[in-house]
Amino acid sequence: MLVTCDPCDARRWTESTTSNRRVAIVPTMGSLHEGHLSLVRRACALADEVVVSIFVNPTQFAPHEDLARYPRPIEDDLAMLEREGVAMVYSPSNDAIYPPGYSTFVEPPAVAEPLEGKLRPGHFRGVCTIVLKLFQTIPATVAVFGQKDFQQALVVQAMVRDLDIPIHIDVAPTIREPDGLAMSSRNRYLSTEQRARSLCLSRALDACSQLAQENERSLASLESAMLDQLRPGQPDGADHVDYAVVVDRRTLHPVQQSISWQASDLVALIAARLGSTRLIDNRLLHSPPMTL
Ligand code: PAF
Repeated sequence: MLVTCDPCDARRWTESTTSNRRVAIVPTMGSLHEGHLSLVRRACALADEVVVSIFVNPTQFAPHEDLARYPRPIEDDLAMLEREGVAMVYSPSNDAIYPPGYSTFVEPPAVAEPLEGKLRPGHFRGVCTIVLKLFQTIPATVAVFGQKDFQQALVVQAMVRDLDIPIHIDVAPTIREPDGLAMSSRNRYLSTEQRARSLCLSRALDACSQLAQENERSLASLESAMLDQLRPGQPDGADHVDYAVVVDRRTLHPVQQSISWQASDLVALIAARLGSTRLIDNRLLHSPPMTL
């Protein structure tokens, strides 16, 4: 496995490889867990060679966010990737990505505006900029992102479409702990007590999804079913709920109750805090099975 922090090396390696072999990239910020490894395995199935990037991108963190405490267990990450048969790990330094005088940023697409875009101004500008730079350095045929970051996947798909970037964005299902908590590098910040309470997110999505399958037509009822499980501010619930919404799965804008919608047009999305740890999760909703 080639490990490089040099963008020129990474690009040369990819260009020498792409002539007759498909390359997949899995962009990460390291601190890898089974969720990331599932993306890597999916990438291995989609391409001949897999590149994983590891870069904790400072421009997608706001000053009060967890950039400084973001875990960076690089040796463990490399050992895991070696075992998965990854061909190259690209792990650039801050200076290689944002050298002194760096001043160019991507203006994110419209789907970046609601939800995370409102609550984390500048976040998707940072994500789009680093992802575009990674795609420039590693001109892969496919990139694999996780559905857990649902809005991020839509933002990257829209950016690729709008800027004519010749890469396919594959979105892989969320991997969960056996009790339902979506895997995330941030789960390691949770205390035992917060970890137990964190299950309110997956319970909320289960409740919402169940109601949708029972043909509940009121969006307010779908959302309040989530809040009933999230119990914001209650001793057994989340400390704070940033949002728990059911929206159009393509635009992430609210769907008007008055227009006719199918549950399969919708996604339920949650962002909630336990202590100072912010967790996100989501579920695509499904209509009840058709009956004759
Ligand atoms: O999802 C992440 O880990 C990051 O947002 C990404 C896509 C690697 C960009 O820094």
